[in-house]
Amino acid sequence: MFHVVDTNIFDRPLLDELCELTTLVRTVAKPTEGARGLQRLAPTRRAMLYFTQPSTRTFLSMNNACHILGIRTSEIRHPEVSSEVKGETFEDSIRTFSSYVDLIIMRTPEAGYAARAAALMDSIPRPVPIINAGSGKDQHPTQALLDIYTLERSFEDSGGIDGKTIGMMGDLKRGRTARSLSRLMRHYEGVRLVFIAPDGFEMEPDIKAFLAEHNIPCEETGRLHEILPELDAIYVTRIQSEHDVDDESSAVNLAPFTVGTHELGLLKESAVVMHPLPRGPEITIEVDQDPRAMYWRQERNGMWMRVALIAKIFDLDQEIRDLASGLG
Ligand code: NCD
Repeated sequence: MFHVVDTNIFDRPLLDELCELTTLVRTVAKPTEGARGLQRLAPTRRAMLYFTQPSTRTFLSMNNACHILGIRTSEIRHPEVSSEVKGETFEDSIRTFSSYVDLIIMRTPEAGYAARAAALMDSIPRPVPIINAGSGKDQHPTQALLDIYTLERSFEDSGGIDGKTIGMMGDLKRGRTARSLSRLMRHYEGVRLVFIAPDGFEMEPDIKAFLAEHNIPCEETGRLHEILPELDAIYVTRIQSEHDVDDESSAVNLAPFTVGTHELGLLKESAVVMHPLPRGPEITIEVDQDPRAMYWRQERNGMWMRVALIAKIFDLDQEIRDLASGLG
């Protein structure tokens, strides 16, 4: 494994391995001795976080994931403070970062830039791995990994993700998290997807074609209340108004696409409510008290999954297993 730009690099064995490694990392990190052991794994490595689109969770969890492994980080969070304002091309900027660090983690408002950075790396003498931390409306592969991990753990006593009915709700047209997660579902047996979106915000045809090609049943509905009792998980997303061309978000009536106490009453006892966060009004704060609310756990899982992923990129997974057996 080298670049993590697209969900298509993952297969079921790798997903299972990353989930297992994530749980192992959390166990190792608990005692001080284990946390110190992790920090000794990569203290000579350096990473660059290049985030030219707002981020709280992905930035902080990536940054802290690096620190957990002893990796030092530097960051650029606005193109205005890089030489791109002097007219330096995107490719020259990325090549420059790669002169100083061993890993580039990047988020951009447009699609395709992480792929361009990876293609550039593949053409230069000293390439470094690229991790896509969100590329426009298109993909967010590491979010999909932490979502898979959260789902697998939520269903660990009921056979994991296989055979589950998963609802995805909200702005499915412009939400990269739902798009990336949908694509990973092809690695699970017997999954049924239900897309619940306001008019005009439905999942794009490319994802629906992908699901059809991989024989994953998927339905679309605007009626949350009718479908809720059938769901094992509901993955709620916010309206991505930053992508508006014509203020189209402001016309959406979110009430029929909101999870609150009434909706919890319609949901199975064993089901989970997820959200990549940040949330808008689509999950009311009363839901936070319900044991089925999984989004805060999901955000913590994100840091541990990213430790596992970075460890895997740098071939540190066996050392983590050794640390775990050393702690006995
Ligand atoms: C998501 C994103 O940036 O796509 N946030 C995140 O990384 N957790 C979801 C969103 O912004 O709605």
